[in-house]
Amino acid sequence: MRAVFLVSGSGSNLQAVLDAAADGQLPQLEIAAVGADKFGTGGVERSEEAGYETFVVDFKSYTDRAEWNHALTEKCLSYQPDYVISSGFMRIVNEEFINAFENRYVNTHPALLPAFPGAHGVRDALNYGVKVTGCTVHYADTGVDTGPIIAQQAVPVLDDDTEESLHERIKIEERKLLIRVLQELSAT
Ligand code: GRF
Repeated sequence: MRAVFLVSGSGSNLQAVLDAAADGQLPQLEIAAVGADKFGTGGVERSEEAGYETFVVDFKSYTDRAEWNHALTEKCLSYQPDYVISSGFMRIVNEEFINAFENRYVNTHPALLPAFPGAHGVRDALNYGVKVTGCTVHYADTGVDTGPIIAQQAVPVLDDDTEESLHERIKIEERKLLIRVLQELSAT
């Protein structure tokens, strides 16, 4: 299974996939490339260190969002992937991208969707006062963290949790969930 991964941040979740691949836990996964929407991301740096091809389609270099989406779509298509995996990719893509990768664009989110979508799902769950939150892996569409759910994992919220402590605990489960989903998608 060929996959292109997209990141925007530190790439710690991607690192878990790279480590799992190196440990032989993802024998059918071929990481074609790792891309980002801006320069200087930890995710691209980690991937380069691991010897993978990387690319940047820099959002700020495009005056028109549709042009950025088109460039990202073309770049991802150029690798002919079976799936595009968003692993902390923080841009919403448009119809062109989704049509190119319909039900083949997989996203992870640090909350139990449809609860708490968006860029601050962990903070929103904590502020709401939920006792259980978690993480979701889903097929992404043109919405914000919407699309058919593939897998979820619950994570308890502790009384003394901060956004950071809760997010780190969620990420532990998120990484395991993503690897399990990649194994399942590879097997189909
Ligand atoms: C993950 O929790 C992801 O679900 C969310 O942002 C976080 C990315 O963290 N969109 P990292 O860049 O993988 O460390």
